[in-house]
Amino acid sequence: MTQHRKSIHGEWSSRLAFILAATGSAVGLGNIWKFPYITGENGGGAFVLVYLLCIALIGIPIMMAEILLGRRGRQSPINTMESLAEEAGRTPHWRLLGWAGVLGGFLILSYYSVIAGWALAYVVQTADGLFTGASAERVKTIFDDLVTNPGRLLFWHTLFMTMTMTVVARGVQSGLEQAVRFLMPTLFVLLVILVGYSMNTGAFAQGLDFLFTPDFHRLSWNSVLIAMGHAFFTLSLGMGAIMVYGSYLPKDASITQASFYIAGADTLVALMAGMVIFPIVFSNNLEPGAGPGLIFQTLPIAFGQMWGGAFFGTLFFVLLVFAAWTSSISLIEPAVAWLVENHSVSRVKASVVSGFVTWLVGVGTVLSFNKWSEVTFFGKTFFDLLDYITANIMLPLGGLAIAIFVAWLMKKRTAREELALPKGPGYSLWYFLIRYVSPAAVLIVFLNVIGVFKLG
Ligand code: TRP
Repeated sequence: MTQHRKSIHGEWSSRLAFILAATGSAVGLGNIWKFPYITGENGGGAFVLVYLLCIALIGIPIMMAEILLGRRGRQSPINTMESLAEEAGRTPHWRLLGWAGVLGGFLILSYYSVIAGWALAYVVQTADGLFTGASAERVKTIFDDLVTNPGRLLFWHTLFMTMTMTVVARGVQSGLEQAVRFLMPTLFVLLVILVGYSMNTGAFAQGLDFLFTPDFHRLSWNSVLIAMGHAFFTLSLGMGAIMVYGSYLPKDASITQASFYIAGADTLVALMAGMVIFPIVFSNNLEPGAGPGLIFQTLPIAFGQMWGGAFFGTLFFVLLVFAAWTSSISLIEPAVAWLVENHSVSRVKASVVSGFVTWLVGVGTVLSFNKWSEVTFFGKTFFDLLDYITANIMLPLGGLAIAIFVAWLMKKRTAREELALPKGPGYSLWYFLIRYVSPAAVLIVFLNVIGVFKLG
């Protein structure tokens, strides 16, 4: 009786706990670090519009599909995919989708932790008043000093991985849930405070104009693809993270409602981060297209100049660490859940083992910014290559596989039962999106990134 199965790892204590945890997974470096800088690089408004369309037409339908798979299977993604494939009369090799997710989670977390380590370092540096009155040049030097020093990067990467694995080791209820309950509301309050600050910079209108007035001349096909890929990354889709969280979801919770709530909160945080960052960028004559270093190389200039800058700057980087922390937990949870299920090890041992492997891979990313910066594969450093393989290949492929499995291979009744949607326009719309629109769009992204099919 699959539908009455409960996860051996426990269950969320309430529907709200699931929404908080999944929102914690979705909201991370992707929203606060990546969204502003890719928006800056891709010209603003039109890019944001495409990103919002991708969230609505691809992200939300695939999120519903991924959660329903998790709740139906009630196990780690590997075992969930195997048993659901059997239930649907398909090959058990669908477990490979779970394996790809475990691998993807490891790889993403290995570099995610290094970037989160930068944020940790910036908490201390900002609190120390290092940026107070600092010139743009000085701020850049401080950034370069950090990333070219493998010892310091390793220290912060190690600290961040330890923080992550400590929460993961404590398990679903006492670990993940408690962390998220405390972290998410704090994060939101901090963002509201920072938006309040930005409203007084004198460039708030300019920031809003940049974010929300579309200029389609500045939008290339490549930008469309970046926006689409980011929709996966920011919602934590395509690698089993949301699936494993769904497996702890009580039967009576509405998957549809939860998905809208999570995507809504995630989008709100990204837009708020943009509303914090761009007014500061414009009021200080900084460059919106500065690239991945945008927040680390330019925000400290603003924090150094503004009243109470050390305080607001510290708050900002604390916020970034919190957001990254609740995301990283979901990147490793599929692996930990699988180790506990298939190797009957304790959660603590599973966390130590998987955390160590991830940490070790992360050392490659640490070195790629300094000692190995000249070592390239296909013209990319170790870090660039990992980012490319995971974000551009693994996530879209995982999302495509999820859409195909749910809309084409699973029994139609099974999906409808889990969603518990009445037959009607809402259900029909979801089915149409997941069956045709999402796979077609993902296929276009995927073929593009592997260079088989070039648009425009
Ligand atoms: N969504 C997170 C962010 O925006 C990152 C993340 C967490 C993620 N879990 C994931 C990305 C699973 C892809 C897949 O920072």
